[in-house]
Amino acid sequence: MADKNEWGSNLSFILAMIGSAVGLGNIWRYPYVLYSNGGGAFYIPYIVAILLMGIPFLILEYGVGYNFKSSFAKAIKKIHHKWEYLGWFLPVAVFMIMIYYSAILGWDGIYIILSFFKGWGADPNTYFTATLLQSSDSYLGILHFIPLIAVFMLVGWVIIWFISHRDLEAGLGKVSKLLVPLLFIIMVVIVGFSLTLPGASIGLAELFHPDWSLLTHFEIWMAAFGQIVFSLSLGMSIAFTYASYTKDDADLVTNTLAIALANSAFENFAALGVFSILGYMSMQSGTAVSELVTQGTGLVFIVYPTVFNVLGQWAYVLGPLFFLTVYLAGLTSILSTIEPLSFSIQNKFTLSRKKTMTILCIVGALISMVYATSFGGSVLGFVDTFINQIALLFGVIVECIVFAWIFEAEKLIDFMNSRTKTIKLGKWWLIIVKYILPIVISIVWVGGMIDVINNGSMDQLNSTIVTAALLLIATLIFTVLPAKNKDWDKAEERI
Ligand code: PFF
Repeated sequence: MADKNEWGSNLSFILAMIGSAVGLGNIWRYPYVLYSNGGGAFYIPYIVAILLMGIPFLILEYGVGYNFKSSFAKAIKKIHHKWEYLGWFLPVAVFMIMIYYSAILGWDGIYIILSFFKGWGADPNTYFTATLLQSSDSYLGILHFIPLIAVFMLVGWVIIWFISHRDLEAGLGKVSKLLVPLLFIIMVVIVGFSLTLPGASIGLAELFHPDWSLLTHFEIWMAAFGQIVFSLSLGMSIAFTYASYTKDDADLVTNTLAIALANSAFENFAALGVFSILGYMSMQSGTAVSELVTQGTGLVFIVYPTVFNVLGQWAYVLGPLFFLTVYLAGLTSILSTIEPLSFSIQNKFTLSRKKTMTILCIVGALISMVYATSFGGSVLGFVDTFINQIALLFGVIVECIVFAWIFEAEKLIDFMNSRTKTIKLGKWWLIIVKYILPIVISIVWVGGMIDVINNGSMDQLNSTIVTAALLLIATLIFTVLPAKNKDWDKAEERI
């Protein structure tokens, strides 16, 4: 019998990790990033980012997680007894992602229903911003509660709770084995259909038309590295936690390759689908693809419904399938965002998995109600920018340094090599994780900060201060609360 926090098989681990990686970032972020950063030429920095950062970093995170077989906060405390604060920072930041992801999941749930009868009407833009979100730019919008969104968000929280509060394999393991393959199958159907649409080739030509001159631009390299950090959920304590749940015989290097490959295959596939559909729309409406293309909520909740409006009968099949894909992708990612904090709490306060998950879901659901108000959409944008561009990347740099230098990545080499049938780690890997990675990620981080400072509004600044304060205070509380576990500072090591 698997322990409450142990995968039943290697397959559960791989599929859960793919579920975490394949998310909204693959569907709504990547196609746009590829298009706006040189099209086909983007593949060069993209592949370099995977080889130089994605794979080496995942191996490091998995190796250290496997070694400690305990939560992120506990392992950091063991690595250095004065650094427990750092050990709570990332799990809390990732939990904050969970809270706003639940809003997007809620919106998408509403669209699954709407798509059966094109309930967004003739003007999807007005429907999304004015009718559904009732968006307001004013802080006072926070007082205007939108019950429909709240109900769908709460449905999402109940689903998350239902899966997460069970033992790991009975809940997340089983669900990943079912939903992740389903997600890939539905995606193949959608993309297959999209490619047959008239005009698809216009979109694809536009997407892949390479702009080689951009290769000399610093921004496209930064975009590639930023995309890989986000898309692979790198350095976010998720991969660490998932590896700590593995049995003793895991081949982590081969798993890493499988996960990175599946994630890239999915996002490139998604790009084919998105651009075929944009090509079709461009042909129907006479609008250039470049004017239709966008990312994020605009793509999913405005451009796609607009396309479905001109697609005739097929829209009633493709629409529900599309919104279901987004839901599944979002769900399998959001499930991973609760694990690092939950496991750390279980370890420090000797609480059961069931109790911890129940408490976290209730707290998360309550806080998430901020997003079910008229000001919610704006808050979501601000929090997303802050967490992704500033807080998480900072955590990622710290994690990389702590793992590679303080823990000493050298310790992992013999062990990893004795297990793997694929690539063997050597000096090259140490150079990457100790020198290249911290430098490259620091550059991406500084670039993101400059972007926020240059383009951020006053509201962005205020929201950043509030979110940062909440993050730091929550981290501090978890750190100073006395441990109930007598062995809190004695993480066992496997290697
Ligand atoms: N990797 C997910 C995606 O590409 O959508 C996003 C994500 C999940 C980011 C979990 C961060 C995270 F903690």
